[in-house]
Amino acid sequence: MEKSLILAWILVLGMAMAATPCRGYYSIAKPYVPAPKKVTNLHFFLHDTMSGKNPSAVVVARPNMTTAPNNSFGTVVATDDLITVSPDVMSKVIGNAQGLWVMTDQHVFGLTVYMDLGFTAGEFNGSSISIFSRNLVTDTERELAVVGGRGKFRMAQGYAQLKTYFANFTSGNAIVEYKVTVIY
Ligand SMILES: *[C@@H]1O[C@H](CO)[C@@H](O)[C@H](O)[C@H]1NC(C)=O
Ligand SMILES: *[C@@H]1O[C@H](CO)[C@@H](O)[C@H](O)[C@H]1NC(C)=O
Ligand SMILES: *[C@@H]1O[C@H](CO)[C@@H](O)[C@H](O)[C@H]1NC(C)=O
Ligand SMILES: *[C@@H]1O[C@H](CO)[C@@H](O)[C@H](O)[C@H]1NC(C)=O
Repeated sequence: MEKSLILAWILVLGMAMAATPCRGYYSIAKPYVPAPKKVTNLHFFLHDTMSGKNPSAVVVARPNMTTAPNNSFGTVVATDDLITVSPDVMSKVIGNAQGLWVMTDQHVFGLTVYMDLGFTAGEFNGSSISIFSRNLVTDTERELAVVGGRGKFRMAQGYAQLKTYFANFTSGNAIVEYKVTVIY
């Protein structure tokens, strides 16, 4: 009796498996129906601090064959910069900018930034925007590309308009105003 029950189950399972052909590692391609998009503007200040006892940006590698003393081409910097609501570092912290910036310009003082700007307060607590862009830091105003995001900003696109509020190229410290338009 028990044996026939098991046999019956094997038969049922076998039929179910035959009805659903195995497609291996991928699903059937379906048309993508995008949800209506929203736009949000963000405004904050990023503190990139390379000097002092608690730097938020540290050099992790630099080439040993650069020629000019003022040419830092190839330098890689890891960051965990504070994001605050105002230029004052003691103002409300709303997140962190974690990632890398790399000196990628052989002629001018220019970087490429690869950063996850994660928010820790308010409606976007737990969400982030991903920035992947050239950043010509000697230009007072510049634009960076927002290429994605996490959480509420999943699959975001947009742009960030940056304005240097303070910069000391000797110490490497800077406070930068960000005005970001995020479409998600
Ligand atoms: C860079 O490092 C390599 C390997 O240690 C060494 O052979 C070379 O002399 C260094 N170059 C300079 C300019 O210091
Ligand atoms: C290095 O300094 C020289 C002279 O001040 C300047 O012409 C050049 O553009 C500087 N190079 C970089 C990479 O900043
Ligand atoms: C942000 O979210 C984390 C995790 O859910 C939570 O622990 C924290 O209290 C939240 N912070 C604020 C300011 O809402
Ligand atoms: C810039 O940084 C250097 C080195 O830390 C320091 O000596 C100088 O006073 C700073 N300048 C300003 C305007 O903060």
